[in-house]
Amino acid sequence: MDSELDPHSALAMLHWQIDLGATEAIGDVPVNRFEAPKTLAQPVSAAAPARPASPAVADQVDPVGEARAAASAAKTLDALKEALARYDHCALKRGARNLVFADGQPDARLMIIGEAPGREEDMQAKPFVGAAGQLLDRMLAAIGMDRHASDVAQAVYITNVLPWRPPQNRTPNAEEIAMMRPFVQRHVDLADPEIVVLMGNISCEAGLGRQGITRLRGTWGEAYGKPCLPMLHPAYLLRNPAAKRETWTDLLELQARLEEQT
Ligand code: URA
Ligand code: URA
Repeated sequence: MDSELDPHSALAMLHWQIDLGATEAIGDVPVNRFEAPKTLAQPVSAAAPARPASPAVADQVDPVGEARAAASAAKTLDALKEALARYDHCALKRGARNLVFADGQPDARLMIIGEAPGREEDMQAKPFVGAAGQLLDRMLAAIGMDRHASDVAQAVYITNVLPWRPPQNRTPNAEEIAMMRPFVQRHVDLADPEIVVLMGNISCEAGLGRQGITRLRGTWGEAYGKPCLPMLHPAYLLRNPAAKRETWTDLLELQARLEEQT
């Protein structure tokens, strides 16, 4: 580091980085700079079989198994939130400011499962409070639903597959989704909604084991042992306003199903 850097220059450099689009001072995973490099780069023989990086650690830790055990031991939603807070195998946790667990009424008939917190959600520790969340609230209002309603008939319960914000809002990877899936399953078991909405591709991947939301949307399926309706993600609708037509159809379908089951 340049020790001559005065506070004014440091601030100017920071503004410059922000202007360039930097939003985080952190990477994907923490770097331990005290740790000596384990191996120096070596020429790799084409014939040599690849060796796992650290077999001892890889053999011991089963992040998905530990997630299953931790999630099924939780007997209440509060206990599930605590279990997530204690769960240490997801590197995203260390880059996030807050654990984003849920919002709305746990007793609601409708549970919405999104993808992952963004910047606003990470700061406020609540799901869907940024631009996409505001659109989601308007979509729900259009069919008389409201996450702030205390009346179960209008109430909504909202969560995400991932409780921690991925750096730069990158798409969660397969391992991260697999680790969080047992917690989402338990979350649905404990909240016990009548209907689950899967918002976007990542939510379909976690709930149905497949993506392709533009084909899956609007067709009832089953996820986490509940009837589920995949829908386009509101963040996608913000970028593709023309797709709001399809979402309107899906919202009416959702409303009809809720009325039917009353
Ligand atoms: N997008 C999501 O999927 N979830 C949020 O909480 C916010 C944006
Ligand atoms: N791609 C996504 O990831 N989500 C959508 O809702 C639509 C396209």
